[in-house]
Amino acid sequence: MHHSSEPAVRDPLKPWKHLLYPPLRLTLLTPNMMKGLFAICIFAVFSFCYFSAFPTPKWRSNCADCDPTLIHPSFRQFVGGGGEEKTTISHILFGIGGSAETWSSRRHYCELWWKPNVTRGYVWLDEEPGKTGEPWPKTSPPYKVSADTSRFKYTNWYGSRSAIRIARIVKESFELGLENVRWFVLGDDDTVFFTENLVNVLNKYDHKQMYYIGGNSESVEQNLVHSYTMGYGGGGFAISYPLAAELVRILDGCIDRYAEFYGSDLKIGGCMSEIGVPVTKELGFHQMDIRGSPFGLLSAHPLAPLVSLHHLDYVQSLFPGTNRVDSVKRLIQAYKSDPSRTLQQSFCYDPIRNWSISVSWGYNVQLYPFLVTAKDLSTPLQTFLTFGSWSQEPFTFNTRVMSLKPCERPIIFYFDRVEGFGHGRTLTMYRRPRQDNRRQCDGENYAAAYSVKGFNVSAPLLHPTIWNKAPRRECCEIMKDANGVLEVRIRGCKERESVTPP
Ligand SMILES: *[C@@H]1O[C@H](CO)[C@@H](O)[C@H](O)[C@H]1NC(C)=O
Ligand SMILES: *[C@@H]1O[C@H](CO)[C@@H](O)[C@H](O)[C@H]1NC(C)=O
Ligand SMILES: *[C@@H]1O[C@H](CO)[C@@H](O)[C@H](O)[C@H]1NC(C)=O
Repeated sequence: MHHSSEPAVRDPLKPWKHLLYPPLRLTLLTPNMMKGLFAICIFAVFSFCYFSAFPTPKWRSNCADCDPTLIHPSFRQFVGGGGEEKTTISHILFGIGGSAETWSSRRHYCELWWKPNVTRGYVWLDEEPGKTGEPWPKTSPPYKVSADTSRFKYTNWYGSRSAIRIARIVKESFELGLENVRWFVLGDDDTVFFTENLVNVLNKYDHKQMYYIGGNSESVEQNLVHSYTMGYGGGGFAISYPLAAELVRILDGCIDRYAEFYGSDLKIGGCMSEIGVPVTKELGFHQMDIRGSPFGLLSAHPLAPLVSLHHLDYVQSLFPGTNRVDSVKRLIQAYKSDPSRTLQQSFCYDPIRNWSISVSWGYNVQLYPFLVTAKDLSTPLQTFLTFGSWSQEPFTFNTRVMSLKPCERPIIFYFDRVEGFGHGRTLTMYRRPRQDNRRQCDGENYAAAYSVKGFNVSAPLLHPTIWNKAPRRECCEIMKDANGVLEVRIRGCKERESVTPP
């Protein structure tokens, strides 16, 4: 339709900004399923007693020689499904879009999450690497060189033909015919996957059905120019095996039919429309189509496990005073001690001083020396602009203004380290950045708040099965103030408890 006047809408060097990423999840035997099985057992016992006590000739004669399992196929299916092995990392085949020339500068993000001999998959390159004579790094995923795509049409004027090659990764991966693949997860060479959470999210879905799972762009302009109905390739998306089988059958035709589409993910989205499978949106996939600081976005993460981050070279470092790659490493350090809780937000008040506190677990604590509603605390502070036009708005979520006035800004404490995990709990520590040159507020309430040196936050491990239940933010409370270190405890909210200002 329109896009023509928007050359900057997506970085043309990066055709695949939004990709794929798959979530998985465990626990076949959730409490609800246990209840279901229990109910079925009761029903079975009851039925057996009933029919033994009141034998009906009709039943007997109709079914004297039929296989009882054929009588209730739905029952069998249900029980069979419950006994199946849950999805693990080994069931995922990753397909990462890369290029020989840029791999050396991109591999650092990929290597943050790639586990040799654990994660399965390939980086797909445009040509054989090694022009520099260096061997392929052992810490990188193994590579494959994509097949030639010169026969396909590509008519998008501001895009790159590499979109064709990258769209075909799912097909080339499928055609490897590897065993035991339940999900194909596609991502960019600068996508960081949080694989435990990915596995958890994918486990919510039956891999034997046709699922296409991912997320949209944060910037409305991107969704308008590209699409709302696709999984963005940079955030990553997951395609279940049966859906991949259908996709692979028609993909090459789609590539020519949707020749004017900019990116590989949009071409795949077009193909999905032909199959009739919509994208299932999972809120933990982050395309990160923003400019500036991701602080506001990631400090108010939705109640969903963190699955991916992308565009980390396009936004400021997650932590001040560290480079971008090291800042992601720091987040991963927290992540490793409690994957499910990473970036989960909790709010509490100090009712004596009228302070408000927002913890974004593993990332930061914001201290407001005044009362802020939960509604505001859960709304991202706008520390960023839109991706294409660097505008103030709109985004696909609400934002609130990050005031320039020092007496309206939160005092921010960043995650420093985690201790004492392994006993069902974590203790995370948050400190103020060393050089905080920002103009300070002269208010009395701020003077007291500036004297806070840090936060010690204790929390129970967040069990991944929590994501199978109705979502609810956890509560927190301030336990004590020891020499300027505030001790905060995160816990499930009690009955009749809400985050209501004192
Ligand atoms: C991965 O497996 C291969 C073959 O079994 C082995 O040679 C290699 O050392 C392993 N790499 C790591 C990092 O464990
Ligand atoms: C806290 O806020 C309440 C309600 O706004 C107010 O009545 C009270 O005086 C405040 N307390 C302090 C210490 O500022
Ligand atoms: C915070 O945690 C650190 C590390 O365990 C500990 O040394 C310190 O005493 C704690 N501070 C408070 C106030 O609990």
